[in-house]
Amino acid sequence: MKVLGIETSCDETAVAIYDSEKGLLGHLVYTQTPIHKEFGGVVPELASRDHVRKTIPMVAQLLQETGLKGSDIEGVAYTVGPGLAGALMVGATIGRSLAYAWNVPAVAVHHMEGHLLAPRLEPNPPEFPFIALLVSGGHTQLVKVTQVGDYEILGDTLDDAVGEAFDKTAKILGLGYPGGAALAELAEKGKPGRFTFPRPMINRPGLEFSFSGLKTFAANTAREFGLDDQTRADIACAFQEAAIDTLVIKCRRALQQTGFKRLVVAGGVGANKLLRARLTAENAEVYFPRFEFCTDNGAMIAYVGCLRLLAGQHEDLKIQILPRWPLSDLALGSFK
Ligand code: KG4
Ligand code: ZN
Repeated sequence: MKVLGIETSCDETAVAIYDSEKGLLGHLVYTQTPIHKEFGGVVPELASRDHVRKTIPMVAQLLQETGLKGSDIEGVAYTVGPGLAGALMVGATIGRSLAYAWNVPAVAVHHMEGHLLAPRLEPNPPEFPFIALLVSGGHTQLVKVTQVGDYEILGDTLDDAVGEAFDKTAKILGLGYPGGAALAELAEKGKPGRFTFPRPMINRPGLEFSFSGLKTFAANTAREFGLDDQTRADIACAFQEAAIDTLVIKCRRALQQTGFKRLVVAGGVGANKLLRARLTAENAEVYFPRFEFCTDNGAMIAYVGCLRLLAGQHEDLKIQILPRWPLSDLALGSFK
């Protein structure tokens, strides 16, 4: 079954075609970052308008690149949440309408389920069950995954998501938006040990996270020591150490608690090299998606959509979005 996937939940327009027999046939990602950069964050209205401009031409380009016609597509999947309402509405409206025009089923996809299952697009996919660490600009969650559609949230952040903390600290260091990757790069020039940031919440039992204190610590350190080049790099280094160390400690704890041996990492912060190195050194089978499937992409949406269509799930004719859809609501029952 060939499924077109459309992702427009935030500031990337992405499309992909996944074939249940041949795997991923092609995908395209267009990022709006240059549009939002000057505002220091995503401007929802500008995001929606740009998705309107880009989505259809990208679908046309993908069909051309894969040598397929609209009539070859057997289902259309699109992200309905969580995300920005206006942005989601663009993908949902286009996706639902294409499915109607092509007379094929449509299926709504949860953005975080996409991230969660993205490592299964790789040649050596993780088997179930596993613990997933979902780390993006909006999420920091540890999820117990027993099978497709069966997700139990073991831990969540009480305040900022880890990607958000990277972005806010990057802003303090004058690195622009989104600054996660730039901060990680700057950290490589830092002197380890000059500053030591706290590891939030590790002395309490449980798997909750809290990252807003780290950003405050970075701001206070900057105020005290100034922002010359070496100090900026040293702050970046200390922040990254503390944030990544906290994630690794909680992953270890989640694996111990469940007795699971596999860990799957997904979401934009999954591109962080220090996180990848530290987790790889843990006593577990660790799986990462390739870099381009860590951040938002259409491949993960086409893949999840295909699984759900094959399981018999599809949408009726109404166009619906769920901007605040919790992952825990995706019970096994809703997979049928
Ligand atoms: O999953 P994603 O593309 O978008 C959503 O939030 O859904 O994640 C984006 C987040 C941003 O906060 C960005 O700064 C962060 O991932 N990020 C990184 C790195 N690359 C992207 N954070 C730390 N290290 C990186 N190398
Ligand atoms: Zn995402």
